[in-house]
Amino acid sequence: MADNDSNKDASDYGFGVPVKKYPFFLKGLDHMDWGMKDRLSRIFNAKSGHTVMLAFDHGYIMGPTSGLERMDISMPPLIEYADCIMCTRGALRSIVPPTSNKPVSLRYSAGTTVLGELNDECILDIEDAIRVNASALAVMVAIGGKFEAKTIVNLTRTADLGNKYGIPTLGVTAVGKELARDARYLGLACRVCAENGATFVKTYYCEKDFARVAAACPVPIVIAGGKKLPENEALELAYKALQEGASGVDMGRNVFQAENPVAMIQAIRAVVHDKRTPKEALDLYRSLFQ
Ligand code: R5P
Repeated sequence: MADNDSNKDASDYGFGVPVKKYPFFLKGLDHMDWGMKDRLSRIFNAKSGHTVMLAFDHGYIMGPTSGLERMDISMPPLIEYADCIMCTRGALRSIVPPTSNKPVSLRYSAGTTVLGELNDECILDIEDAIRVNASALAVMVAIGGKFEAKTIVNLTRTADLGNKYGIPTLGVTAVGKELARDARYLGLACRVCAENGATFVKTYYCEKDFARVAAACPVPIVIAGGKKLPENEALELAYKALQEGASGVDMGRNVFQAENPVAMIQAIRAVVHDKRTPKEALDLYRSLFQ
């Protein structure tokens, strides 16, 4: 036995040296379990504290929207530049190369589409989420909507399962046509998600008082891009959200519907990770066209 033959007496006990502690870099998540933190550290960059998530789960509600007609062609070149991808299990299995090795925020709730009443959803099987190695479970939460209670039940059940297996829950605040996207509403929706167990929250930016929304949410917030904007405005949106307390973006249409999607995701990265101004990022975007 190697131990018996060459065992060297242990002597380096570091007496007097305090036990090393590693504070966690994301707000409100110090007391999470190790597996949860490991997965969060794959989604968020520990150096910048931020993330660029690429959302292309739109098809589960909208069908083949512009930019996502042939995801097998349009998505892989973008995935390379994302810190995390957000998609359905169908897209994951059919068009995402497993060798891309990106953390997956799995679209974990599903239900109605644009043809019916949105947000009447159920959640998937946790075993399937584990099977595809999900790094987060994304659940729609429709505060103030007809299916508010049902979506909150989905969130709480997902958070229970996520806690059991060490998988973070992403509360996705849905915004219906009838609901205002103002700080009062978004602040309430984000807070309800966090209080009910979301590990991080996805919401929308609002021009007035977004800083209040971010400050009053005890866990990190990432912002969706929403409808396609001119590139300079999308970069501005990301910049202002980060300045006011968001921990990253979870953008879809403003990336994959841009004139040059590969350049756009790199410009977004420059804002999110490198603190570039919108103008600097736009210059980068244009330079990447050549
Ligand atoms: C929202 O729940 C959708 O599923 C998308 O993931 C989200 O809206 C982000 O995409 P976009 O930036 O296009 O709004």
